[in-house]
Amino acid sequence: MAIVGAGAMGTALARGVVANGHRVEAVLSRTPASAQALAKRVDAPVASAEKRALPNSVRRVLICVPDDAIVGVAEALAKVDHSWPDTFVAHTSGEKSAAALAPLREQGAATLSFHPLQTFTAETPPAAFEDIIVGLQGDDLAVEAGEALARLLGGRPVRLTAEQKARYHAAAALASNGLVALLAVVEELLPEAKEEDDPPAINWVAPLVERTWTHLKRSSPEGALTGPVARGDQGTVEGHLDALADETPHLVPLYAALSTEMVRVAVRSGRLSGNQAETLLDLLRASADATTDEGHGASDPSH
Ligand SMILES: NC(=O)c1ccc[n+]([C@@H]2O[C@H](COP(=O)([O-])OP(=O)(O)OC[C@H]3O[C@@H](n4cnc5c(N)ncnc54)[C@H](OP(=O)(O)O)[C@@H]3O)[C@@H](O)[C@H]2O)c1
Repeated sequence: MAIVGAGAMGTALARGVVANGHRVEAVLSRTPASAQALAKRVDAPVASAEKRALPNSVRRVLICVPDDAIVGVAEALAKVDHSWPDTFVAHTSGEKSAAALAPLREQGAATLSFHPLQTFTAETPPAAFEDIIVGLQGDDLAVEAGEALARLLGGRPVRLTAEQKARYHAAAALASNGLVALLAVVEELLPEAKEEDDPPAINWVAPLVERTWTHLKRSSPEGALTGPVARGDQGTVEGHLDALADETPHLVPLYAALSTEMVRVAVRSGRLSGNQAETLLDLLRASADATTDEGHGASDPSH
């Protein structure tokens, strides 16, 4: 196996493969230092910034470079004299399909996208692959090889179509990056710590977030939703909107958008009537429109 791209994903995969008893033959990266550092970590004999250093014995290539670099890397690899018809090549993008590897497919390689649905840094332990979904898409034979690799790492392979990938990845980005952004907003709204040594106020909501996640895992969004929107407490929602409009108007559109989704969930669960839902939606729309008209949309990153 060879890893191309010695960043967060490449490191996690290389360590995962080695932890499960397999060898990494080569690490290729943009800079020699990155390639060498990862090769040393996983005892790989070859480390290089040159694609032509790919050993001909390698039968599995995992391309772990930024999404926008995948096509360029595939083009460069396709120029390397290699037994491509005997080789599986995967990239690890959640959004891109296996078509990004077309130059290698034209050389006869079996291509796939192999996307571990997890967030990784270079220090993420191999155990992070256990029980996670690995989204696979591409040539049948390559997907079978991807399933074997996913299982070797302890993951759960799931087949996707090329058309499903961007939407699947938008969901993943919202679940991870969206949650981080939401909690950054939560922190912005909480009072600032009084003493320098006080724990960050974000800790206040940790039990709330954890309990909410426990409820969600046991039931569904419809079963887990509580709060003023689900109760139809219009006055409380108005109170929130007024407070936000006074001090953090850039957050009103976000509050309105998320509350609109809460209304949809509450209607589906049967907790809100059609009339209650309409009243709340009117209120949310009016507040978001008023803030946007005043130029307090969420688009200004300086807030
Ligand atoms: N990190 C995650 O949580 C995660 C999760 C699922 C999927 N992914 C996917 O994994 C892929 C890599 O993401 P990442 O987070 O690992 O990014 P990253 O930490 O920025 O690492 C990317 C690596 O690619 C290397 N690189 C860039 N251009 C290259 C080129 N032309 N040839 C060879 N190597 C090149 C860089 O090398 P140098 O260090 O040598 O400059 C860098 O180490 C992306 O497709 C991403 O969507 C990431």
